[in-house]
Amino acid sequence: MPMPIEIHFKDVDLDPIADAGGKVVVFVGENGRLDAGARRVNRLTRKALARFVESDAFAKLSAGDVRPMAYPAGMAAKAVLVAKLEKRPSVQEARKTGAQLAKLLGEEDLLVLAGTMGRADEIALGLALRAYDFDTHKTGAKSKAGKATFMVSKPEEMAKSAKTMGAIAEGVFFTRDLTNEPANVLTTEDFAARLAAMQELGLEVEILDEAELSKLGMRTLLSVGQGSDSPTKVVVMSWNGGKKGDAPFALVGKGVVFDTGGISLKSAAGMESMTMDMGGAGVVAGVMRTLAMRKAKANVVGLVGLVENMPSGSATRPGDVVKSMKGDTVEIINTDAEGRLVLADVMWYAQERFKPVGMINLATLTGAILVALGHENAGVFSNSDTLSKDFIKAAEAEGEGAWRLPMSPAYDALLKSKIADMKNVGGRNAGSITAAQFLQRFVKDDVPWCHLDIAGVASVKAETAFAPAGATGWGVMALNRLIADNYEG
Ligand code: BES
Ligand code: MN
Ligand code: ZN
Repeated sequence: MPMPIEIHFKDVDLDPIADAGGKVVVFVGENGRLDAGARRVNRLTRKALARFVESDAFAKLSAGDVRPMAYPAGMAAKAVLVAKLEKRPSVQEARKTGAQLAKLLGEEDLLVLAGTMGRADEIALGLALRAYDFDTHKTGAKSKAGKATFMVSKPEEMAKSAKTMGAIAEGVFFTRDLTNEPANVLTTEDFAARLAAMQELGLEVEILDEAELSKLGMRTLLSVGQGSDSPTKVVVMSWNGGKKGDAPFALVGKGVVFDTGGISLKSAAGMESMTMDMGGAGVVAGVMRTLAMRKAKANVVGLVGLVENMPSGSATRPGDVVKSMKGDTVEIINTDAEGRLVLADVMWYAQERFKPVGMINLATLTGAILVALGHENAGVFSNSDTLSKDFIKAAEAEGEGAWRLPMSPAYDALLKSKIADMKNVGGRNAGSITAAQFLQRFVKDDVPWCHLDIAGVASVKAETAFAPAGATGWGVMALNRLIADNYEG
């Protein structure tokens, strides 16, 4: 989907304020001092703004909050939106302001009197992120955001960083769209086609079909999709913006376009939410889009395993034993623990082919991570203190919750199988950890690796600060920052 709202940066010009038709935004800090734009609004409204700023109501607002003054006398605008924000706000405060503006925007144009406000670009990003609306499948009149014009003292500078912000927002929206899309639309083939279309952005995109996957020996992956009419695919996206020949960083995503559980069928209640079970692959795709759009100076490969987990006469049975590309055999006790079977082969392939400097996989892997962390944090599992710290730091800077959980040989022992090298479930206790232990068996010892269990954060039932209910795009911004801060020259 295109940007949900058109955003421009222009030189400050206070003259059009009286006649601006939509909504006019002013910023006022804790001390109540009015800048040039706010002073103009104050004069036009015969000091209504100053009266609000001196009120208890304003005093009670926290940084980033926005309140409307509707139909102000002396102005053509439908409202003045008063944002409480210091001149040098934090990134999160600036984005929060933007998100609140998006909620008050309606279908009106915004005239944002930013002047010398710091982080106007971050305000714009918050605005764009929260203006997103997945209305692809609604017929009839759709609500349409107006456009936002930011009046700033240095428009050229802003326009440059706004391009980076645009790349980030487009990546997040790409992830959200994929994750929100129902499974009859986003089939494995449709998903692969949407990724192939990113070649336009300069990404290399390669699609491996079932015959090729079979030749590579990816039997654990193929076992998940064998009950579905949609063909299993692996898509490899490469962004080569770094030094030629430098080993890439690898991102690997679980792309189960629908998870019925297979023969170990899930219960009916809530099963429709399993359209989001490709959320890990969605994040990988979104990050690759952002990296390409902002022409990142790094080599990054993104691999996704696209597959549908269906029960049928050809589906995998509980008790089946399959051999992974690595060569280890797996006894499939529960066909609903399919994500790890997908990732095992795709991660192994990523390491064999690309010898990456590091690898992060993302997956809506376990319901147990919701029990542990709810919707606030993704679970982080890692063999590397450095990589996990770097990632958690990047996530924190982007306001995306991430919390590390332990791994150890004692948990790994729970995967012991009587007839194969391992089984695919480790029992009810510590379900997210045993899933991570399963994955680690397919990680080479010398590859710094993180597994992100995003089952709780990829898609949520209630709106968040930066997204309406549904897909959040969690992780795109954190991973983009991880790359920018640690893997770019
Ligand atoms: N896709 C699910 C995990 C999930 C649950 C994602 C809730 C999003 C929300 C995964 O494939 C699954 O079914 N996991 C099982 C594993 C179990 C059988 C060991 C689970 O969590 O119940
Ligand atoms: Mn499952
Ligand atoms: Zn699943």
